[in-house]
Amino acid sequence: MSLEGKVALVTGSARGIGKAIALRLAQEGARVVLSDVMEDALQATAEEFRSKGYTILAKKANVTEAAEVTELVDAAVSEFGSLDILVNNAGITRDNLLLRMKEEDWDLVLKINLKGAFLCTKMALRPLMKSAGCIVNIASVIGIMGNAGQANYSASKAGLIGLTKSTAKELSSRGVRVNAVAPGYIDTEMTRALPDNVREAILKNIPLARMGTPEDVANVVCFLAGDAAAYVTGQVIPVDGGMVM
Ligand code: NAI
Repeated sequence: MSLEGKVALVTGSARGIGKAIALRLAQEGARVVLSDVMEDALQATAEEFRSKGYTILAKKANVTEAAEVTELVDAAVSEFGSLDILVNNAGITRDNLLLRMKEEDWDLVLKINLKGAFLCTKMALRPLMKSAGCIVNIASVIGIMGNAGQANYSASKAGLIGLTKSTAKELSSRGVRVNAVAPGYIDTEMTRALPDNVREAILKNIPLARMGTPEDVANVVCFLAGDAAAYVTGQVIPVDGGMVM
């Protein structure tokens, strides 16, 4: 699984799943570019990783701003000389029942979760083609099975799965692999906001009877990013304790 000599960019990596992915890739030897909109948390994470001896570049960027994404990719390539792995992880929820869902909450979720991944993919394509690299998109089981109260989120993640498959088909001849991971319910700030009764109801539907950890997701991303997955592209791998089967 060694990623020695590789350069990885992980969006939304100041905390949560993105942070765990960045750490896992660094543990395998990758030099890692951390990026997020939360500057303080981003720098704190970068310092934490550097103190462990990992080679890290941290750059604030909003995935919805094309100019910022371009600067981010350019910074990664000029600092480390190449880009081999892109992980589109930045994402948000703005849950509500359809009748109450505000148009701006629909737009924002689609903009960050889907358009953000499109922009990062597009801007990173040239260096990724040069290095015959790979992309891992962080989708969600909700993009596969839907969920009441998450129409915007579900649509964004289903869209991300479509983006994954189309990009995989378009780029396979250039040697670039593109896959998605679909996490189930993972214990992060995002899901800590859920009320206790909702969390208990969710747990009843998980065959492995526990919430996942960010590390559970990071392990599968690490596999997909490495040579062990050299013959895997266009796939969506659930990491969900068996929720979707
Ligand atoms: P989180 O809220 O802890 O972390 C998300 C990170 O993305 C934050 O650091 C945030 O500042 C950053 N971010 C938000 N908007 C951004 C933007 N416009 N540009 C750049 N960065 C931005 O959430 P968590 O749980 O770590 O989620 C990470 C990914 O995993 C998301 O795409 C989420 O949809 C997905 N996911 C999470 C699940 C869970 O149960 N926690 C389940 C399935 C998928």
